[in-house]
Amino acid sequence: MSLILGIETSCDECSAAVVRYQPDSIEVLSCATFSQIALHRPYGGVVPEIASRNHLETVNPMIERALGEAGIRPDKLDAIAVTNRPGLVGALLVGVSAGKSMAYALGKPLVPVHHLEGHATSIYLHSSGRAPVLRNDLPYPMLVAIVSGGHTNLHLVPAPPELWPLDFLKRSLVGRSRDDAAGEAFDKTAKVLGFPYPGGRWIDETAAQGGNPAAFDFPRALPQKATLDFSFSGLKTAVALKAEELRKAGTLEARLPDLCASTQEAIVDALYAKISLAVRENRCQALAIVGGVAANSRLRDRLANGWKSLGLVRPPILPEMTYCTDNAAMIAGAGAFRFRQGHFLRVPETLTLNAFASPEI
Ligand code: KG4
Ligand code: ZN
Repeated sequence: MSLILGIETSCDECSAAVVRYQPDSIEVLSCATFSQIALHRPYGGVVPEIASRNHLETVNPMIERALGEAGIRPDKLDAIAVTNRPGLVGALLVGVSAGKSMAYALGKPLVPVHHLEGHATSIYLHSSGRAPVLRNDLPYPMLVAIVSGGHTNLHLVPAPPELWPLDFLKRSLVGRSRDDAAGEAFDKTAKVLGFPYPGGRWIDETAAQGGNPAAFDFPRALPQKATLDFSFSGLKTAVALKAEELRKAGTLEARLPDLCASTQEAIVDALYAKISLAVRENRCQALAIVGGVAANSRLRDRLANGWKSLGLVRPPILPEMTYCTDNAAMIAGAGAFRFRQGHFLRVPETLTLNAFASPEI
């Protein structure tokens, strides 16, 4: 058993969490998150300096809340895990500095965590009081699709996290977006249609108001079978042109559900096509979808109806909703695996940890 505190400040969520690592499961004892979405909304996207300054004000209260709600005294922690890449470097530095000072003051090991390893680990977490996810019962190879505002990556995962090598993300990557991430495509098209940031949820909800997914035929990039990569950058222009045409005709408002449903269908089609291809090509036993876009109802429906035809042995694995969007529980979870493998810094090396914008290690 190990108790790990996690800290996440890579973008616009400031979060701290305590998890209990067990040989078969990871229990989230607490997860305190402050979302900065309302602060960035007037600007239509994340403003890095506003993010860093707000993390500075919020990170200590989040850590205190996480420890308080878990009922864990800091000296009882086995290690402190912190996201140190990739992300907005000024934002990352706030969490890294908080983690370093705490680990130094308490004489605890410090575990640097890659944000995407955190997302990949989110499927192994369960909140206290919920049924544990028994990770040794999950079948491999597993395809893990990380679909968020910043990333659209397909990873072929051959084994449970205890066995992930340090270059796991690089080794397991089989497909990725060549330009915008899927969440970014939702957010950019939503902005064109006049919805507030972040727009994915608004597109989803407006499409559900009787929108016809076949009303408009928006482009699906890279349809050829030879690649597992995605490209979403052309979609925004196509949607913007159609919206302008409808605006001129005075029918934009009435057609919004159709427009949202067709936009969503183009993104979900592209995701579903490459995910199915990757599952089939690699004879995957299981599929997991993580990151903010895993919340999309159309993607969930398509997977719920289609998983059997893909040859999977169980329905797709989706983390609890709180662990889909950015949070520190997944960072603490990923940190727990690395800690158990012996990959951490001890005092005084703790003070050498840096933050990096790039995902490359
Ligand atoms: O994982 P996340 O919280 O942050 C990043 O690490 O980027 O993902 C946020 C993204 C945003 O782009 C947001 O619009 C999208 O997830 N999102 C959705 C939905 N809910 C959140 N996209 C489509 N449908 C949704 N229901
Ligand atoms: Zn993320």
